[in-house]
Amino acid sequence: MTAAARPRIYDPFDAGFQADPYPAYRVLRDDDPVHRHDDPPFWALSRFEDIWRAVRDNASFSSEQGLTFYPDEIGTLGLAPTIVMLDPPRHTRLRSLIAKGFTPHRVMSMEPDIRAFVRARLDAITERAAGGEPVDLHREFSSPIPTFVLAELFDLPGGDRGRFDPWVRALTAIQDGGFDLEAMDAKDAVAEMFGYFSELITARRANPGDDMISVLTQAELDGERLTDWDILGFCFVLVAGGNDTTGNLISHGVMLLDSDHRQREMVAADKDLIPGALLEFLRLEGSVQGLARTTLKPVRIHGVEIPEGQKVMMLYGSANRDEREFGPDADLLDVTRTISRHLGFSSGVHFCIGSHLARLQARIAFEELLARHPHVGVDLDRSERLRSAFTRGWVHLPATGLDGA
Ligand code: HEM
Repeated sequence: MTAAARPRIYDPFDAGFQADPYPAYRVLRDDDPVHRHDDPPFWALSRFEDIWRAVRDNASFSSEQGLTFYPDEIGTLGLAPTIVMLDPPRHTRLRSLIAKGFTPHRVMSMEPDIRAFVRARLDAITERAAGGEPVDLHREFSSPIPTFVLAELFDLPGGDRGRFDPWVRALTAIQDGGFDLEAMDAKDAVAEMFGYFSELITARRANPGDDMISVLTQAELDGERLTDWDILGFCFVLVAGGNDTTGNLISHGVMLLDSDHRQREMVAADKDLIPGALLEFLRLEGSVQGLARTTLKPVRIHGVEIPEGQKVMMLYGSANRDEREFGPDADLLDVTRTISRHLGFSSGVHFCIGSHLARLQARIAFEELLARHPHVGVDLDRSERLRSAFTRGWVHLPATGLDGA
């Protein structure tokens, strides 16, 4: 798209906006930081400081009406509210219980298995590239990694693992399509997934192992235990929120490094740069571009009053490029940038509980990928982006520069 054709108006449904939302975000930040959208009715915050404060202020901004700008999304899905759609104090208790199944120790212990899986994926794509076959970086490398990790966390039997992919695709489609369940197999996929996990939870209660579901069935706080429904909701959030987000971080990172080969060389030569580079990738191309809260009381920001009961989009993707926070080069990739705070994983009570797991996976992916294929890049002309008002990612992203290709 030429610079002149870039949409400068924030329209979350517009394909041009979704392809390149950054010019419109800049206009919002500079001219209309408390933006009112008419249809559907909602507000949008776009500056870093405003969003940082809002997501840390649960007394004013609630998650309980859901995270999109659509009304009654929870009812439409037929779900009980999951952790990400609760406010304190219920959220605090649930999160403490869930944290018992999500300790840094548990996450770090997965490193050898993740590395072995990543190497096996690399063997497969290297062989295909050497045979002259096209390789889809997103589908064949980035995206399978988090799916494998979730299956490991849940300790799913090998034969069941292939069922994840269709569920994830359906759940993403539901979120991105605005919870329009008509003409979609999505409802069936959700029902199937719930049935599968319900049986798994019953089995693990009866016969616990050391996987995350077993730990959650045993977790106790002040005599309170998680119900099957709580655990089911958590599995749903992990499959819907922990999978595609991580795969897209990896794919975006490869795309960004391909835009500046000097920085790609630096990262390939010094793997200690990778953890910082990952934050920079997430800052520039966040997998989660925006999620909503609902006002619990009237809120005044920059002289504009948002009444009670209004949906307010937190445009994380805009905040993370705000020059007021990141300086005049906020739009540029700098893998050595010092990032003291960012909103790629949100902030406050809902700060992503899987952030250390996402970063572990992405770190291993880049360590192994750049060691094997230091010139890896992507073919944007043949790529296909995910269409979404809330997330940013890929359907297809062909790889280039694979050694042997
Ligand atoms: C790069 C990858 C990821 C990104 C960008 C990401 C982003 C986010 C964001 C922005 C939120 C806050 C939602 C809100 O504002 O309401 C969140 C929450 C959450 N994330 Fe992630 N996430 C990632 C990976 C993961 C992984 C790997 C898992 C687990 C396997 C995970 C599990 C969760 C859960 C359970 C919550 C809800 C926490 C709460 O409500 O207390 N995420 N994530």
